[in-house]
Amino acid sequence: MTVAGGFYLGTIPSRCILLVATYLLLAGWVAKADKRHFAGEAIDAELLCEGQLAEHAACQCRQVEGDISCINAQFVDTNIFVDIAKNYKSLQSVTFHGNNFQDLPQDPLFGRGTHDFLLRLNISANYIVNLNPNALRGMPNLQILDMSNNEIVLKPSDVEFLSHTPALTQLYLRRAFTSTVNRTIQFNQMLEMFQKAKLNNLQVLDLSYNYLQSVPYGLACPFPSLHTLDLRQNFLKSFDVNVTCIKNLHTINLNRNSFHTIPTSFQKMADSLAPQTFLMRNPLYCDCESHEYIAWIRSTNALRDRNSLVCSRASPKNYEGVRAMEVQVEKLTCNERFIKSCHQMNLPLFVFFLIVSFIF
Ligand SMILES: *[C@@H]1O[C@H](CO)[C@@H](O)[C@H](O)[C@H]1NC(C)=O
Ligand SMILES: *[C@@H]1O[C@H](CO)[C@@H](O)[C@H](O)[C@H]1NC(C)=O
Ligand SMILES: *[C@@H]1O[C@H](CO)[C@@H](O)[C@H](O)[C@H]1NC(C)=O
Repeated sequence: MTVAGGFYLGTIPSRCILLVATYLLLAGWVAKADKRHFAGEAIDAELLCEGQLAEHAACQCRQVEGDISCINAQFVDTNIFVDIAKNYKSLQSVTFHGNNFQDLPQDPLFGRGTHDFLLRLNISANYIVNLNPNALRGMPNLQILDMSNNEIVLKPSDVEFLSHTPALTQLYLRRAFTSTVNRTIQFNQMLEMFQKAKLNNLQVLDLSYNYLQSVPYGLACPFPSLHTLDLRQNFLKSFDVNVTCIKNLHTINLNRNSFHTIPTSFQKMADSLAPQTFLMRNPLYCDCESHEYIAWIRSTNALRDRNSLVCSRASPKNYEGVRAMEVQVEKLTCNERFIKSCHQMNLPLFVFFLIVSFIF
């Protein structure tokens, strides 16, 4: 009995403790959640926007900092920027990423008047096609412009587009241009726009992911302060530019282009620049003819990432994936032929892929 009573007496308090503990735990959790909820509301109130933006949950506005951000908010009409200018007098940073503007306006984006404090404009991922030469008027101190992920078609009349923002230090044009217009012509127009703009303070230029097969010879010449040129993920097989104009650069990113070898002319140019300037991870071919460029990779100071350069194709095949720093050069042969797959692909297979690509 005492044992049984002891058992029952023992279980009741322990059950109580369990219950009370559970209650306390739950209560604590609810209170915490509540606090979090209120904290969330407090932040939200701080971020409430004025004017038309107030209706959009995707917009956050920090009044004090003059910081406005509308991400994936489905805006299509650039008049929204005029509305913003009316409600915010000291704009510093404006981000409209992932909307659908298509055309920048013929008049200044923020309407008449000058926005002296505006330092950052981010209009990336907006399907922007047409720029219009006056769109960037009225923001004379703009430092950072991001127009990446658009569908820009440059027209001769757009060459003045960047001429109103002389203080620009960073310009992002990653995957910015349409693929439907002849790129050679587009990029020559881009260079003309750069030349007109006189961006003497530009330090960072991002032209990555643009399907470039070559870069204009004078690409860097309009930018005396440039230190970083990002050409990642293009189709470059060479990098033939005016060396005088890249003397001051400390980073030239050529990762993921189409270099299968590193031409002697490139080696000479790279060695004449500041050490560690180049990032150069490319699909290198290593065979009996590669001794010279592999020797260069091993001796040069020009490549920042030379330890990560690998033979993407090799003869013999067992050297594929081996680092250029380690491959046994004397064992490389020319027995394997590095077939350019597109030309050699047989017709039925090609038709099959064509059909598949139409379906998806
Ligand atoms: C522009 O906005 C997008 C989305 O928020 C962001 O990923 C990107 O880094 C921004 N660009 C710059 C230069 O800050
Ligand atoms: C693009 O234009 C250039 C210069 O006019 C011309 O040489 C080239 O053949 C054109 N490329 C294509 C694919 O039409
Ligand atoms: C290279 O650029 C320099 C400086 O802008 C210029 O003086 C020179 O004429 C250019 N060289 C060529 C071959 O265009």
